This record gives sequence, C-alpha cells and structure tokens, in this order.
Amino acid sequence: KYWNIDRLGRLYKDWDPEVLKKLETKIAKSHWRPGYHITTQTGLLNDPNGFSYFNNQWHLFYQAFPYGAVHGLKSWQHMVSDDLVHWKFIDKPMVPDLYSDRNGCYSGSAINVDGKLFLMYTGNTFEGEEMARHPYQLGAWMDADNNISKLDHPLIESEPTGVTGHFRDPQVIKHGDYYYAFLGAQTVDNAGEILTYRTKDIENGWELYKKLDLGTDNLGYMAECPNVGFIDGKVVVIFCPQGADKHEFHYDNVHPNAYIVADDLDFDEMKLINPSEMKQLDEGFDYYATQVLNAPDGRLLSVGWIGLPDTEYLSDQEGWEGELSMVRELHIENGDLTQRPVQECKQLIEEDEASDTDLQKHIEAAPFDEHFNLNLESEDSYLRLSYDESDQEWTLKRKNVGEDVSIRTFKGEASSIDFYLDNTVFEIYILGGTITMTGQFFHDGNEVRVNSENMSVKQNKISNM
Ligand code: FRU
Repeated sequence: KYWNIDRLGRLYKDWDPEVLKKLETKIAKSHWRPGYHITTQTGLLNDPNGFSYFNNQWHLFYQAFPYGAVHGLKSWQHMVSDDLVHWKFIDKPMVPDLYSDRNGCYSGSAINVDGKLFLMYTGNTFEGEEMARHPYQLGAWMDADNNISKLDHPLIESEPTGVTGHFRDPQVIKHGDYYYAFLGAQTVDNAGEILTYRTKDIENGWELYKKLDLGTDNLGYMAECPNVGFIDGKVVVIFCPQGADKHEFHYDNVHPNAYIVADDLDFDEMKLINPSEMKQLDEGFDYYATQVLNAPDGRLLSVGWIGLPDTEYLSDQEGWEGELSMVRELHIENGDLTQRPVQECKQLIEEDEASDTDLQKHIEAAPFDEHFNLNLESEDSYLRLSYDESDQEWTLKRKNVGEDVSIRTFKGEASSIDFYLDNTVFEIYILGGTITMTGQFFHDGNEVRVNSENMSVKQNKISNM
C-alpha cells in the first residue's frame, strides 16, 4: 500500500491509459457506487476544493488521484452544477505540472475576482532523500470555458520562520481592501495553528499577517483545511486539528473535523470575539476537510469529504474511494451551528414508497417512546441509530461486511431523524441539523432492510434523474 516517491512523482501524462481502463472495467461491476453523491470516476477522492459560484454555475473541485484508491499524486478534478444537486464532470483537471507542485496540487479555494475565478492552492514538493516537505502557495486563473492557467510565480515561496513544511490549504476571502488567506500550519514545536496572509493585489505582495486567535490552542500538531464563514451576524471557523487533546475535545475518528462559532472576527487583531468552545462538526464515522462558501445569494454553504485520512475502505479493492457530502446550508441558531441539506436536495426525494431493494432512499423517522432505534441491515452488516432517554444519549453502531462493530455516542435531546441513504453513503440529520452523522456503510446485499422500534417510519425513494 505504501507509495514511494517514484509513484508520487510520476506525472499523469506518463501513466499508461490502460490503467484507467482496467479500473473503469472493475468499477463498472461494483454494487457499492453511490448515485447522487459526488464520487470519483476512478481512484481516490479526498478534500473538496475551490467551492465557488462563477459564470452562472456552481463549481466544486476535489482532491483526486485517478490511478488507484491510494493517496498518490494529487490533482483537482472539476464538477459543475446549476442547482447544487446535479453535478457534471468537466474533464479539465488542474494537474501537477510545475516544479512548485510536482508532488501534488494540494487543497485550496477559489474566489471570484472581476469576472474571473482565482484558484489559490498548495503546491506540494518533497526535497532530497529525506523527502522534506517544501510547500508553495500557488495561484491560477480559470476562464469562462473552464480553462485553468497557473501563475508563473508562487504567491508564497515557503513556510514562514518557526513553521515546518506542514503549511497548506489556503482559503482566500476578501475583506475591505485586502484579500486574506487562512492557512493550516504546524510550528517547529509541533503545535497546530491557523496563520493568515494578506495582500491588496491577489497575484502579488502576499505577506504574513497574523496568527488567527481562536480562543484555544488545542489544535494538536497540525490544523488542516481552515475555513471561515459568515452567517446570521456571526462567524464560524471550521478546521481539522489533527492530534487535538481528547481530554478537552472529544472525538473518536482518527482525525477530527471541528468548529468554533463566535460573535465576530476582528480582522485588525485577527481574533475571534467571544468564541465558543471547540466542537465536533459531525458525529459520524467519516467526515473531514469541510469547505465553506459564502455564496452570492447570501447563504453559507458547506461540503465535506466522506472519508478520512490514514484510513482504508472496503471499496479500495474495487479501485475507488471517497465521496463528497450533499451541499449543506449552515446557520447559527441559539449559538449552535446547524447543518441541513440545501433546499434544492428536496428534488431528489420522490413521493414513492421505497422498498428494501431500493438502495437510495430518504427515511423520516419520528419517535413515540423514550427508547427508540432505527436499524438498517443486510446479511453481515448493519447501521443502527438508537436513543436512550435516561441518559439522553444517542448511539450509532456500524458493522460493515467482514469488519468489527464501530460505535459513536453523543449527548443530545430526543428528536426525529432525517436520513439519506445513497447505497453505501449515509447522512443523518437530527435536532434540526444541530447534530449530523455522516459516513460510509458497506453492506453485503442488493437490499438494505429498514426496521425500527418505537418510531414511526416513512421511506421515500431517491432518484437523481
Ligand atoms: C487533508 C489534506 C490536506 C492536503 C490534502 C492533500 O485531507 O491532507 O491538508 O492539502 O489533504 O490531498
């Protein structure tokens, strides 16, 4: 499974196209492919990138390695949509072809500048036998025909003093006269932090500005994929604090996706005003690297990777891995972040009762007792969400085919359940979206039976036609 520098360094143009054809043939036989969630054509998908609205369309890129279900040489694959639900693949990826991105076009964001789309991303390079990381922060323009041209100079040449080669994932936003970039970083003392840079001219003059003061330093050893969003007169910061101390911040996934809400962001001090404690963005098994977009229509939208770093998935055997979540609309209600699928997702739901052989369904379940559960099962697999009123605890249990049972528990009030199943992908929304649970569920059949205790359940079909 380990991919050496030769594999990471092999340019896409040097791969035998037969490799892709073989993968396609294998994947065509899969029973596990999702229907309405974005996934790869072949190989691996990870972080959402460059989520934007440009030229009257929604644009969404993702980190991709097409030649196998491993974290190989990364590019940006491109999808567009008119409605945030139906996505079309644009076969004009941004691939590594510069000295400064030779070991991967890593994550980044997009911003609409005077009718052109500017992409800011991390060029990953490894130097010498030690494979020391040297990150460049790079820029590119995309025109209305989706052609991408990279700038011929880096925006930021290297990591700043006191920071290691773990310095990446710029989110660029405009505030006042400046463009600000929020970047994930690791200090030489092995602490995670979010640094900001700024400039007035997006192509030039980027300077280290300040560290973002979040009100906590519990960012582990590296904060990946920082994102700042504005909604309901408040601010939310979403990031992935790898190795955060679990005594102060509970999570069970190998790496967490976290958020903090605050009354405001003071750009002069680069400090959150009245920040909340750090919380988990999602209580499920696979959710990471979430990106937000303050859309021109005023909504704050988000999309996350349904997958985790450093994790193997059963679909790897089939030559593909990873999906993106449905696009969610974020709000801050009574100080809590809420996430709900954008209203456009309702068009997926058919007013037609789903059966056990329908692998894409929307399930609405309402409790009528203090103990209830909703159970999806196949022969050697299940996904079970249950609630116990006595200690106000939710439990989500998952058994994928051939694997042991994994469990997640979290506190919260009783609530109805809004459940989207897309073959092997699920998204669960409870408490009005105050709690979400997202992940993969590898079942072993052509059907997933739904049963429940102390709940009334309604199942509708989902179609993405
Ligand atoms: C997060 C991440 C980013 C990086 C990208 C590489 O999953 O590690 O920090 O830019 O993936 O694919």
